[in-house]
Amino acid sequence: MDEKKILFSAIQPSGILTIGNYLGALRNFKKLQDDYNGVFAVADLHTLTVKQDPAILRKNTYELTALYLACGIDPEKSVLFAQSHVSAHTELAWILNTICYPGELSRMTQFKDKSQKHEDNINMGLMDYPVLMAADILLYQTELVPIGADQKQHLELARDLAIRFNNRFGETFKVPEGYIGKTAARVMSLAEPERKMSKSDANLNAFISMDDDPDTVLRKFKRAVTDSDDKICYSPEKPGISNLLTIYCAFTDKTFEQAEAEFAGKGYGDFKMAVGRAVAEKIEPIRQEKNRLLGDKAYLDEVLKNGAERAERLAYRTLNKVYKKVGLVLRKRG
Ligand code: TYM
Repeated sequence: MDEKKILFSAIQPSGILTIGNYLGALRNFKKLQDDYNGVFAVADLHTLTVKQDPAILRKNTYELTALYLACGIDPEKSVLFAQSHVSAHTELAWILNTICYPGELSRMTQFKDKSQKHEDNINMGLMDYPVLMAADILLYQTELVPIGADQKQHLELARDLAIRFNNRFGETFKVPEGYIGKTAARVMSLAEPERKMSKSDANLNAFISMDDDPDTVLRKFKRAVTDSDDKICYSPEKPGISNLLTIYCAFTDKTFEQAEAEFAGKGYGDFKMAVGRAVAEKIEPIRQEKNRLLGDKAYLDEVLKNGAERAERLAYRTLNKVYKKVGLVLRKRG
């Protein structure tokens, strides 16, 4: 890899991905991959922290690999791989566990939310999740981590652990910065705009999946919750319309002012249809390309294989340094 700075991010292969994942993360990966050395993972080990059907998890790993590619991640430019293919991730997570305190993990918002949602399966992995995420990031000497706003707290922990390790054992890790887009870093539910749009929502009308066809997209936007008056403007008192405006502007690259002017005097019905059309126009080619790629498993396997080899080389450089710093005897080879 050349001298550009490293950018790392990952997504869980936990089934449906929404336009929240796209706007908060994927589209920024594509934007940034020319200016950075991009390293992108399918975070399959993270997904195991909630119960999975093994066959579906395997299928979802291919789905997400294909989606990364369909969204414009170029496997020649960037490294695209499955987290479980590079064992340095879990190895570094173990070391980081020894400098992380339970209190830091038990107060994480996502841990609290998921513990409530999966009451019957509050496992150690769920709690340790942010430490594995810190290992993902720190292994690559990452400078920039593009994420949605919901992952900010986890990134803070990665920074804290890097600083703590460096203070204790000497300069080892780069301290990463987050890249959280100015707009659409937190896309909200179409049914309850006070809540984050989430793929695990039981109400299928609450989110737009990257797999929704244009008719479904339009139908869901038609049903989207709006607010009591009929003015189309961005305001904290109008969470429904503000969320729709955010989505519209993110998909059309327009400013709020431009969009407000465009819809001045128009009704909610027209506006919701325009948002639906803008979204469908952008995601339909992605959906089709993803489905085409899914027909070529051999190609996807090849991408993951090459990605893992390149990721491994980078990751072990850092891991060896860490092992040496903490006092482990390095294995002699050959
Ligand atoms: P995950 O798989 O839940 O989500 C992937 C990315 O999508 C963003 N996102 C959103 N952005 C805006 N609006 C929304 N409604 C929305 N929902 C999700 C997330 O912020 C994320 O950027 N722990 C991570 C995966 C991970 C990771 C990492 C990320 C594992 N290791 C290392 C960065 C660096 C997660 O569960 O994301």
